Amino acid sequence: MPRHLTPLHKAAADAVATFAGIASTDLKVGSPPNAAMGDLAVGCHSFAKGAEAVAAAQAVVASFQPGSYLTAAVAAGPFVNFRADRAATFRWVIDAALTSSLIPRTLGTGQTVCIDYGSPNISKHLAYHHVRGTTIGHAIAQIHRALGYRVIGINFLGDWGTTHGMLLAAWERWGHEVTTLDITALNGLYVRFRAAMAENPALEAVGRGWFKRLEDGDPVARELWQRFRDVSWAEFADVYDLLGIVYDEVRGESAYEPDLPGILQRLTSAGLLVESEGAQVVELEGEKTPIMLRTKDGTTLYATRDVAAAEYHWREYAFTRLLYVVDRGQALHFRQLKKLLAKMGDEWATRTAHVPYGLVRVGGKKTATRLGNVVLMREVFRIAEDDVRKVIAEHNPALPSATVDEVARQVGIGAVVFANLAPQREKDIDFDIESAVSLDGDSGPYLQYSHARCASIARKAGETVTTLDGVDTALLASDAEWAVARKLLDLPDMVVRAAEACEPHIICHYLLDLAGEFSRWYTAGNGDPAQRVIVDNPAVRRARLALAAAVQAVLRDGLGLLGIAAPDQM
Ligand code: ARG
Repeated sequence: MPRHLTPLHKAAADAVATFAGIASTDLKVGSPPNAAMGDLAVGCHSFAKGAEAVAAAQAVVASFQPGSYLTAAVAAGPFVNFRADRAATFRWVIDAALTSSLIPRTLGTGQTVCIDYGSPNISKHLAYHHVRGTTIGHAIAQIHRALGYRVIGINFLGDWGTTHGMLLAAWERWGHEVTTLDITALNGLYVRFRAAMAENPALEAVGRGWFKRLEDGDPVARELWQRFRDVSWAEFADVYDLLGIVYDEVRGESAYEPDLPGILQRLTSAGLLVESEGAQVVELEGEKTPIMLRTKDGTTLYATRDVAAAEYHWREYAFTRLLYVVDRGQALHFRQLKKLLAKMGDEWATRTAHVPYGLVRVGGKKTATRLGNVVLMREVFRIAEDDVRKVIAEHNPALPSATVDEVARQVGIGAVVFANLAPQREKDIDFDIESAVSLDGDSGPYLQYSHARCASIARKAGETVTTLDGVDTALLASDAEWAVARKLLDLPDMVVRAAEACEPHIICHYLLDLAGEFSRWYTAGNGDPAQRVIVDNPAVRRARLALAAAVQAVLRDGLGLLGIAAPDQM
């Protein structure tokens, strides 16, 4: 995938590429070690070695012609350091930010990415640990959408298998005792059945019998199962609403039931399916454990249904990538699945990838005591919301209470979401609610607060800048302002990298850096009134307001990529 280049980066790459006779997209445009050396750096060692690279850098400098975005070039060893035309760069970057076009919106045009994420099992609560996969998957989906990919967000509900037979068996026994049919009741029945099974192992066969009835389409079993599924979905949907998640496809494991005989048939004809202790399995290269597709009782398994689902998604969407955002614990399953698909002759198996993530533990002591008994995902959001409400009330007592409620909800959710996204995806995390909701740490609320602060500057100035009309960017003259602009210029590359690596944390860190740079600029005005954003000179004020508005737009768009709201005041 070619890196997205701003006109500034493109000019620098072109200057070197023309000399080297290579494509400018083959060159990496970085930053010199310090700002005094220049604004952009291109190394010549990618196409020349040792002394030749040094000579190449000098030759590029000798032939350099200043253009619309670059004013000077200096050689530093094998590097060419370029100096940007600040006024032209400010113009480009502020305009792109204000029109939300800093992100390369058409990079993914014509490509489809299917993302299977969340995908909980029905008849169980969305537990706290589901938050990580759900938020990571949603962010990856949003990032791809922003780049113009067609994204199919898939919820592959775990709605099939022997556990559902046990639940039906439990209902048969104790269903009459249930007054409100909800997940709590269903979960209670299941737990009770497992306990009874521990006493009386014969019950296992009863559970299996019910699953068999379900698989055979018995109307009583089907109807009950459908009710359990509906009740579960109602609870899941509430949480997805809270998070702003809209799935493009909700298709559970059960939907693939009709495809399974055909798949087993194909595997048998191909001579791939072999018998192992009564079960049917496929041996895979480099794997000690074969993949099991049919139990000795003749029932199918999770893996069989995943094969059917992958084939369905290929037929339906002809995806460029099919991503499974699922916890690291299922690595073996997805390795086996990919190998099996390849063995079955599905060449598109190479387009599938497991995107694993680490565990989330309940962190600090205080958090542990407060969340000790909390298992529900929506409870954690509620606790965060309450904490945030207190923080906001203290911080901004003038805020009307209706606004406080709305903002507390957005910021409470933002706090939990950000805490789950900010560490690298594969790292285990300790979730600590105190630091998640803090306004001055590396937190979601801190980013939301930075955004609200930009909005409040415009309010205070009584002047909202939405276009560059009448703005003279040559008036942006301080290094602090320039540092902000340079950060803004990094956005496109960060978004592309986050999509390629499926790493939302790249966006999290970028936004923290941007907020930090903005804060340095903004607080410089505390010591030196001439550096304030709202100064008397209307032209200077307008140029500064334009830069603050650009920061605001990038924070808003960036938080949007993470699935976090950006309220205007808090
Ligand atoms: N329902 C599974 C679980 O809760 C996750 C499903 C992941 N997606 C898939 N295609 N296997 O563990």
